[in-house]
Amino acid sequence: EKLDVVVLKAVDSTNAEVARRLSAPSPDMPVVLADAQTEGRGRRGRNWTSPKGQNLYMSMGLTLRGGFEGLSGLSLVLGVAVVRALSVLGVEGAGLKWPNDLYAGGKKFGGILVEIQGELQEGQVQVIAGLGINVHMTAAAEVDQPWTSLAKHWPDHKWTRNELAAAVINAVTEAMGQFEDHGFAGFKDEWQGHDIFLGKPLAAKDGTLSGIGAGVDAGGNYQLDTDAGLRSVMAGDISLRVS
Ligand code: BTN
Repeated sequence: EKLDVVVLKAVDSTNAEVARRLSAPSPDMPVVLADAQTEGRGRRGRNWTSPKGQNLYMSMGLTLRGGFEGLSGLSLVLGVAVVRALSVLGVEGAGLKWPNDLYAGGKKFGGILVEIQGELQEGQVQVIAGLGINVHMTAAAEVDQPWTSLAKHWPDHKWTRNELAAAVINAVTEAMGQFEDHGFAGFKDEWQGHDIFLGKPLAAKDGTLSGIGAGVDAGGNYQLDTDAGLRSVMAGDISLRVS
């Protein structure tokens, strides 16, 4: 499978652009990068602040051979891929916030949005993996949570979006192969090594559950150590935060 990489000046959302490209039959895997997004989307219907020229906005069309079961764990694997890409560039210490936020120094610098495009045939699911990484952003009035950027957190590194994009594309391609062969289990320990929730008092935003962060299980669900023992939380079901 070849990559079909396109770089656009501006687009509504790179995820939306990949969706449009996936609906036209092509053997190549679409990868779309944009300098700016006019309707960048985040998880849970939120906007993703996407100022021109400052950050990485990238989406990839991926085919999962493991069917819908393979989906749980995918966004965690993508998080590991980003951490690996940063490490290839010489930067260590990035954190992962379950299920798919990228953190540094207690602040979010990136996020992952996985959307399902459809089923190709039995057992083959097409997904769109969108990655937003704050690279040079210095001011963003509209971001409603503590945020940082690669350049703010690692100022000694010379950041270029092209180099970052190449490293992330390589890492995602490699990780997808590993994920298809071994599932999330092969990533569990590595993911765990970057878990920012571990040992912290956590609560579900809807108030239904609280406990101490106890890492992910082999399926990529997050575990809470509660008064009633270990409880697993599935991505998409519940949103956790430090209480
Ligand atoms: C989140 O943390 O809420 C996920 C953010 C994902 C943002 C990226 S930017 C590139 C791609 N295109 C989009 O519209 N969203 C994702």
